[in-house]
Amino acid sequence: MYKIICKDGRAKRATFTTVHGTVETPVFMNVGTAAAIKGAVATTDLKEIGCQIELSNTYHLHVRPGDEVVKKMGGLHKFMYWDRPILTDSGGFQVFSLAGLRKIKEEGVTFNSHVDGRKIFMGPEESMQIQSNLASTIAMAFDECAPAKAERSYVENSVARTYRWLERCKAEMTRLNSLPDTINKEQMLFGINQGAVYEDIRIDHAKRIAELDLPGYAIGGLAVGETAEEMYHILDVTVPYLPENKPVYLMGVGTPINILEAVDRGVDFFDCVYPSRNGRHAHVYTKHGKLNLKNAKYETDDRPIEEGCGCPACQHYSRGYIRHLLKANEMLGMRFCVLHNLYFYNNMMKEIRQAIEEGSYASYKKSMIESLTSNEV
Ligand code: GUN
Ligand code: ZN
Repeated sequence: MYKIICKDGRAKRATFTTVHGTVETPVFMNVGTAAAIKGAVATTDLKEIGCQIELSNTYHLHVRPGDEVVKKMGGLHKFMYWDRPILTDSGGFQVFSLAGLRKIKEEGVTFNSHVDGRKIFMGPEESMQIQSNLASTIAMAFDECAPAKAERSYVENSVARTYRWLERCKAEMTRLNSLPDTINKEQMLFGINQGAVYEDIRIDHAKRIAELDLPGYAIGGLAVGETAEEMYHILDVTVPYLPENKPVYLMGVGTPINILEAVDRGVDFFDCVYPSRNGRHAHVYTKHGKLNLKNAKYETDDRPIEEGCGCPACQHYSRGYIRHLLKANEMLGMRFCVLHNLYFYNNMMKEIRQAIEEGSYASYKKSMIESLTSNEV
């Protein structure tokens, strides 16, 4: 259940209550694609870095180890030792971005596994069945994420099909939740808005999916090659047509600045691989810009990555020491960078929530963007 605590402009401060606990929004979901946060981060570390909700992928877990295996192991929560909410993405996006040769039909998509090349078919029913086996808290609709530069006629057909797929997802989720051996019978289905950069297609689709009265809605097909300004514009025109009393999730976004701008347009949920991916490449976030810890200038720098940061790395370890670990290819160096970056993202969300509560979101956003772009590191 979604409950708005207060609003500041279009920014919303809310709570989302699930069978696996309550999430305070706006929130960043920490990405564990294959039931693992890349960078040797355990689920026991996640609580220390302020993670409220974890995200995994239907496609990856279906391919390996197989959703039947996860079901036999008691579901994803038990499998990865995580008792807070988990959102699973449907496989739609990953099939389109990762899998080799694929064929889209009304029934679903046939594609080759990125692990062993074997042919796999996935449609709305299969995606719901896999997510039901994984027993995540929130299941995402099976959609097609059309390329940002796709032609209008292609997007029209694709969005019409994605709508029909959503109706099938909803029916299948209802059926699965009523079966006796389903692990999470309260699994929730979020719909996904598509329409590339075509405003009218986005709005029409948003209106139609809103009528299905789902527990939450995502905006997909953004941050796939369009400019940031185009993305903000799509949010400006689309969010008002999604139900006010349901959470809005902007999929796969983004940089700290993207998040600050999207919160200002009414978005509640985010996920992105940037903090973990950048951390694995020694790029760490600070309020004064990103820094590359492999840089020679940090060789004898005895300051933490960021002064005042409460993450497990900054508590005890210097830039100089972490740089040494990275240069020596010690896994620990990468792990510290990822832990710091995830803490940075989760902590920024905490500050965002505070600012909305205090009615000072506009000034918080402005000073944070100024600071992030100052490059004083
Ligand atoms: N992740 C990022 N964008 C998308 C999208 O458009 N659809 C899905 N299912 N996942 C995404
Ligand atoms: Zn830190």
